[in-house]
Amino acid sequence: MKLSFLFIISVITISSICAYPNNKQLHTINLVKRVNVATNYTNAIEKAKYLRQEAINKYSNYQDLNSTSNAINSISSIINSKKGTLPNLASLSNGTISDNILSKSEGGQCTLNIKNINQDLSYYAKITIGNQNFNIILDTGSSNLWVPNKNCTSASCQNHNRFDSNKSPTFKSEGNQWSILYGIGSASGVTGIDDIKIGKFTANSQIFGLADAVSDDNIPFQPDGILGMGFDNLNTMDNGAPTLISTLIKQKKMNPLFSFHFQHYYDYDDQGTLTLGGVDESKFDGKITYNPVISEIGFWLIVLDAALVNKTPTLSAIRPAIIDTGTTLLIIPSNDAEELHKQIPDSEFDSQDNVYIIPCDTTAVVSLIFGGVEYKIPPRDLTFAPISGTQCVSAIIPGDLLYPLPIWLVGQTFLKNVYSVFDMGNKQVGFAQNKKYAHGK
Ligand SMILES: *[C@@H]1O[C@H](CO)[C@@H](O)[C@H](O)[C@H]1NC(C)=O
Ligand SMILES: *[C@@H]1O[C@H](CO)[C@@H](O)[C@H](O)[C@H]1NC(C)=O
Ligand SMILES: *[C@@H]1O[C@H](CO)[C@@H](O)[C@H](O)[C@H]1NC(C)=O
Ligand SMILES: *[C@@H]1O[C@H](CO)[C@@H](O)[C@H](O)[C@H]1NC(C)=O
Repeated sequence: MKLSFLFIISVITISSICAYPNNKQLHTINLVKRVNVATNYTNAIEKAKYLRQEAINKYSNYQDLNSTSNAINSISSIINSKKGTLPNLASLSNGTISDNILSKSEGGQCTLNIKNINQDLSYYAKITIGNQNFNIILDTGSSNLWVPNKNCTSASCQNHNRFDSNKSPTFKSEGNQWSILYGIGSASGVTGIDDIKIGKFTANSQIFGLADAVSDDNIPFQPDGILGMGFDNLNTMDNGAPTLISTLIKQKKMNPLFSFHFQHYYDYDDQGTLTLGGVDESKFDGKITYNPVISEIGFWLIVLDAALVNKTPTLSAIRPAIIDTGTTLLIIPSNDAEELHKQIPDSEFDSQDNVYIIPCDTTAVVSLIFGGVEYKIPPRDLTFAPISGTQCVSAIIPGDLLYPLPIWLVGQTFLKNVYSVFDMGNKQVGFAQNKKYAHGK
């Protein structure tokens, strides 16, 4: 079969209720080369395997951290202490909003629009470093912020916005080396310091990465770099430099939380949003339920109570779950993937590729239970992409990360179906039911 690329001309207009009063005219026209996942049957399995490898690469940055091995022990003991305390599935609640969360108001709040690439592959927003604009992937599964440097000559830098420190009057050089492995490959370079604006907020003297090497994986994608939204200790720059979010909180620009509504690509006229310093009440129904972050490891790591298929439980015990907005799929321990797919009618294991194949018209509803509340993944999001007219690759794929923990890496397959709140102040993750989108399929 012949490689088919879609050449799409898109006009980026990331507008925002609270952003860029001086830069309204800043529209970039980019030529984007995209692989069309949905119509390339061979590519569907390759793509799923690539996305798993991405996650494994990304988490391998942390596997060897001294703090990681300590954290693994403490997480294991938390998980073990909760064995046998599975939630009573007959009395699932919609949860309650915690009183302490929205009351912190030393800083402000603002909502900015976010964009979706390649059919919900990942989501990005605009930031301004000094006086230069970049599109950055919003990634709660890492903590580095980097953009391509002016002197980066790789193809992936040549077709993206690059930072020119000579043109920014507020730039200060720092020059410490950093590197990171990513889903999208790897990036490395030196650190710099500048004022960085996101939405209406500006972090003064923020440390960020100027990448002078970026792997070619990033060539087809619109975003220039990545904004890590995990905790500071995962930042591989300057041994845990404060993240952009952390600086904005310390400088009392925003309240210590941020929250997301992720749009499904097929809900073309829906709008994804990132709210810094608060929640966007227009995007969810009912109440937000919070789950404590159970370790200092640096990830948004919480307890997954249970996973159901059509209301049938598939796990024998709770699991540690990392809530990662920068991951596309649900990547779960191999044994858990097997038990879960046993409950999906006509599911088959492709042992060569280590993925599950399910009917494209499956009606199975997978739900995850967090904090005693059930959140559903509809059948349309359970099928990642077709491999034939009737068979699809499951969006829940086996992958063992941060061994020996039975980690569930909870990415967009789940997150685009909930409203999610990342509360740095109280170290907890909240979910609410997404508002039903009227025009969606
Ligand atoms: C689909 O993608 C694969 C891997 O990228 C490629 O080898 C194959 O030629 C593509 N098929 C079509 C029909 O485009
Ligand atoms: C790694 O962890 C051990 C045990 O907690 C500690 O004694 C040691 O100092 C740590 N090493 C580094 C480099 O942080
Ligand atoms: C949860 O919310 C849904 C809709 O928002 C409602 O129909 C249902 O009764 C609620 N369940 C509980 C236990 O409150
Ligand atoms: C790019 O510039 C930085 C300083 O901004 C420097 O440290 C680095 O060595 C340069 N890299 C290349 C490949 O020239």
